Formats: sequence, structure tokens, C-alpha cells
Amino acid sequence: MRVVVAGGHGKIGLRLLRLLAAAGHEAVGLVRNPDHRDDLAAAGAEAAVVDLESADASAVRGALGGADAVVFAAGSGPGSGVARKVSMDRDGAILLADAAVQTGVPRYLVVSSMGADESADPAEQPDEDDPDVFAVYQRAKGAADAAVRARDLGVVVLRPGRLTDEAGTGRVQLAPVVARADVPRDDVAAVLVALLEKGASGHTLELVSGETEITAAVRAL
Ligand SMILES: NC(=O)c1ccc[n+]([C@@H]2O[C@H](COP(=O)([O-])OP(=O)(O)OC[C@H]3O[C@@H](n4cnc5c(N)ncnc54)[C@H](OP(=O)(O)O)[C@@H]3O)[C@@H](O)[C@H]2O)c1
Repeated sequence: MRVVVAGGHGKIGLRLLRLLAAAGHEAVGLVRNPDHRDDLAAAGAEAAVVDLESADASAVRGALGGADAVVFAAGSGPGSGVARKVSMDRDGAILLADAAVQTGVPRYLVVSSMGADESADPAEQPDEDDPDVFAVYQRAKGAADAAVRARDLGVVVLRPGRLTDEAGTGRVQLAPVVARADVPRDDVAAVLVALLEKGASGHTLELVSGETEITAAVRAL
């Protein structure tokens, strides 16, 4: 399977690329900084340089050729303001989904967020001075999830709880609704691999640490 991961140098993205390559898949990471190519090569992955906030649609399409699945694991990050919640977390995910449709990539997995808010107007252009940046982020994630689901793609929206860098346990709770808790990025990456290998689509799932072994949790969907 050829899998393209947006946010290829991110904390989840790089873990995911490593796991995919180790499992014998063709792993391709989208990075915005060409200096990150070496880290991806060390992970066993190819790199394509695409900035999802400034690239035009044809450049994004060019990076997706021949892919069996695309994973959106990019994000504006905790230090960014309202504008990038919209340009990256919402519009970057949608740009990538449109490019996937246009290049015939059948499947799209989006790393969303527990608490993503789908109730807001998806075209909202928030006030740059809105002090509640986290609420803007959750509305941007919710709008992206709804827009991606409306595309002609096999979609999984994965909504982890608070991410940690602790070692993965290999055990999770994965279901449409779970109680809020933390989850190691290691386990998020492993769940993404299991979802990709199962060919899962048509799910919106929350994810936190739990008692169920990852392959069993995914098999049970
Ligand atoms: N933090 C949490 O507790 C939490 C909880 C639930 C969900 N999430 C979501 O989980 C996802 C991944 O988290 P993470 O910890 O792996 O994030 P991360 O380490 O911050 O990685 C985000 C990646 O996105 C890339 N990126 C930023 N702007 C970009 C652009 N314009 N074009 C292309 N790539 C761009 C970054 O590139 P550079 O490497 O060049 O900076 C980085 O590699 C995000 O969508 C986040 O919103 C987070």
C-alpha cells in the first residue's frame, strides 16, 4: 500500500511513516521544510515538499499520484493563532481531500480532535482577535471533518484525546464516543496503521488509552 502522510515531520506523522515503512508499505511524507527530507529518509519514507497553506491544488495533486490512501496528520500547532486554525487545520485538510478526489485516491484518514465542533457554520471566518483560540481550533477541526466526509472518499475521522509523548501501551479505547482521557502519539500512529491495513472507512471515532489491544479494537469496528 502506498500511503501519503501530510504532516510527515510531525510527531504523529513521523511515527506513522516509520511504522508503515517497517510493515513494508510505501510511505510518503508531505513536509513544508526541505531540510526534513533526511529525517524522513531515516524513517524509511519518501518526502515531497508541499506547504498546504500556500501550495496550489496542482502541486498537492502532484504529491498524491498512485497513493492508496492519504492521512492528514498536519496541524497549525499549539502556538499558532486564529488565522492558522482556519488556513491549516480547516482549509489544509479540505485542500488535501479535494486533491485526493481529483487524483483518484480512494481513502482519506484525518487526525481530528476529541471535542471537534461540527455545529458551527463551516464557512466561518473567525475574528482574528478572538481570545478563545482553542474554541476556534475545535470549530475548524469540526468543519474540516464534515467537509472531508462529504467528499467522494472512504473517510475515517479519528479524534484522539490529549496527546502525550509517553511510550505507547498498544491498548486503547476506540469508539464513536469515549470518556475524555490522554493517549500516546505512539498508539495513535499504531491505530492509523491498523485502520489503513483493515481498509476501514465510514467511521468517526474517538480514541484514548484503554484496555483493548489495538488490532482487536480495529477488528471490532
Ligand atoms: N495536541 C493534542 O493534544 C491534540 C489532540 C488531538 C488532536 N491533535 C491533532 O493531531 C494532529 C497531529 O498532532 P502532532 O502532535 O503530530 O502535531 P505536530 O507535531 O505539531 O505536527 C504537525 C505537522 O504539521 C506540519 N504543518 C504545519 N503547517 C503546515 C503547512 N502549512 N503545510 C504542511 N504541513 C504543515 C508541521 O510541519 P513542521 O514540521 O514544518 O512544523 C508538523 O510537521 C494535529 O492535527 C493536531 O491538531 C492534537
